[in-house]
Amino acid sequence: MRRFEDKIALVTGAASGIGRATAERLAKEGAALLLCDVQEEGLAATAKQCEELGAKVATALCDVSKPDAVRAAVAACIQEHGALDVLVNVAGILSLERTEEVHLETWERILSVNLTGTFLMCQAALPYLLERGGNIVNLSSTSALGGMAYGAAYGASKGGVLALTRTLAVEYAKRGVRANAICPGSIKTPMTTRSGLPEDPDWKLLQRAMPLDEPRGPETVASVIAMIASEDGAHINGESIRVDGGTLS
Ligand SMILES: NC(=O)c1ccc[n+]([C@@H]2O[C@H](COP(=O)([O-])OP(=O)(O)OC[C@H]3O[C@@H](n4cnc5c(N)ncnc54)[C@H](O)[C@@H]3O)[C@@H](O)[C@H]2O)c1
Repeated sequence: MRRFEDKIALVTGAASGIGRATAERLAKEGAALLLCDVQEEGLAATAKQCEELGAKVATALCDVSKPDAVRAAVAACIQEHGALDVLVNVAGILSLERTEEVHLETWERILSVNLTGTFLMCQAALPYLLERGGNIVNLSSTSALGGMAYGAAYGASKGGVLALTRTLAVEYAKRGVRANAICPGSIKTPMTTRSGLPEDPDWKLLQRAMPLDEPRGPETVASVIAMIASEDGAHINGESIRVDGGTLS
């Protein structure tokens, strides 16, 4: 399948996990790419891998919570590739703590990367997406749909991403731009393997977030992102798709 031939995609969070798997999937399917992240080394490794898959690739070191950096990344995409068809907002951070112990700084940083960063990217990309009838895929989470213990800021940020996505879908549908969200459950990536837990956590509560089948990797999410961002998803707008192995079924 080469559903992204002649298409240009911007992927944030591309240095690792779901962002890297998405970049590779889109590269395999013919997309030219602008890849963003704050991790220089990981970003270069993803770019190299995508080039080996035949894609034209440019990168931008970009903290998505910073408006100037976001505008510069979108400008770099236009300068390198001349247009933008697909924006995939994957960059995100997680911190797991008991709610009574969350510092305001942590709350604000999580909201600013996961929610404000997604908003800033959408805002900067929209003029170009409107020119080409493009679309946006935002990474939300099952924590936006069902309570996730110890993830107050994270869940709130991902709930905001869902609301933002539906707003964009309604506001821009008539002008030819779609926006959808993906809600992964627990996926094996560096985020989930490194995230610490509060002391003496309630394992029954943590078990609620586990897939019913078996742990899966980021490719499981990338394939759904590729479907919804392609012409195969042309009539899907404002939707959120769970990729959680039945966790919330
Ligand atoms: N892994 C899961 O189980 C899971 C579940 C639900 C949702 N998600 C969401 O999927 C997305 C990707 O998660 P992942 O599991 O691949 O995690 P990951 O940690 O492997 O990748 C996240 C990437 O985002 C980048 N990033 C962090 N802050 C950034 C910033 N300010 N600006 C630009 N880039 C930044 C990181 O450097 C990293 O490369 C996140 O939005 C996450 O919330 C993941």
